[in-house]
Amino acid sequence: GGRTLAATPPMGFNNWNAFGCDVNEALIKETADIFVSSGLKDAGYRYVNIDDCWSMRERGADGRLVPDPVKFPNGIKGVADYVHSKGLKLGIYGDAGTKTCAGYPGSLGVEDLDAQTWADWGVDYLKYDNCHNQSDGSREDYVRRYTAMRDAIDKTGRPIVYSICEWGTSQPWLWAEGVGHLWRTTGDISDNWSSLRSIIRQNAPLAQYAGRGHWNDPDMLEIGNGEMTDTEYHTHMSMWAMMAAPLIIGTDLRAASPETMAILGDQDIIAIDQDPLGVQGSVVSDTGGLMVLDKPLANGDRAIALYNSTDSPATVTVAASATGLKPARAYRLKNVWTGDTLQVRSTISAGVPAHGTVVYRVRPVDDPRTVPPAVAVGA
Ligand code: GLA
Repeated sequence: GGRTLAATPPMGFNNWNAFGCDVNEALIKETADIFVSSGLKDAGYRYVNIDDCWSMRERGADGRLVPDPVKFPNGIKGVADYVHSKGLKLGIYGDAGTKTCAGYPGSLGVEDLDAQTWADWGVDYLKYDNCHNQSDGSREDYVRRYTAMRDAIDKTGRPIVYSICEWGTSQPWLWAEGVGHLWRTTGDISDNWSSLRSIIRQNAPLAQYAGRGHWNDPDMLEIGNGEMTDTEYHTHMSMWAMMAAPLIIGTDLRAASPETMAILGDQDIIAIDQDPLGVQGSVVSDTGGLMVLDKPLANGDRAIALYNSTDSPATVTVAASATGLKPARAYRLKNVWTGDTLQVRSTISAGVPAHGTVVYRVRPVDDPRTVPPAVAVGA
């Protein structure tokens, strides 16, 4: 039954980017509370995910994983019950080797037991890493280990989103469809421009491998963590939406600014990410650090992103005929972040700040009565 999960890219929170190993029950519960009170739940965010370091260093006498009783006094079951009571879902972290990346017990050889333990606790999402994997590094080996956990999850009968973390594997987009619902495509993101730019460059060409229930994962969001500009954080959200990436918030929502909440909660950009067609935007052009992405949407619109990765302001331009837009007498553009609308004949263009992205939602205008004058309005 788990194969029908994550029809659109998962949305939620994970503590790793902002807190690392410093995770506990209060943080997870307070994050769930904020999902509800801030409107993020209504905006589509569902999964509140615990990363590495939640367990004891040793398994219990029965062989089962044991939650750290200081961090999780009510166990993972307790926090899952709380999160579920808010209409949200709980995620956890495990590893396909003998230990997690931070040295806590891994699931190699005990996949069935651990999957059942997580299912018993009410876990809805598993991020499964690949540290300490005792592997020869061959594809056959890591596919076998990742498939063992998929099968173990399936045996529990509980719907659990299965997120593959790529450490020690290569090109997961070539093998992970049908194993997991999403797979990391890059190394760990960090909260700086060069990391963001590099990850976009790696993930953008992989559009053909993504689709409903199987997503490229360029890693969790750094929006709000303080080391990038507002323009760069808008690019982060814009490009994740264009790339149909999971939207996993990675900041301390208890201290988030109104600007951070506005980026994370923007309904129009989320609608592009979550569009039911489930197609990752593809690269139309990529020259001199100026990239254009084109994402088809279920209602016939297309999202077109004009991304300026250079260090200077630039005009980014694409002919409508170079995108998947059908021929039309004109195109109506809505700037997703500003809400401004304009009509153009055939060329989509914007002045884009350094490190910035303009996202248009574009609709062909077929009705002759609405054709604009030959000069673009407001362009
Ligand atoms: C790896 C993952 C990170 C995080 C840490 C936890 O580095 O890529 O996202 O889960 O492990 O140890």
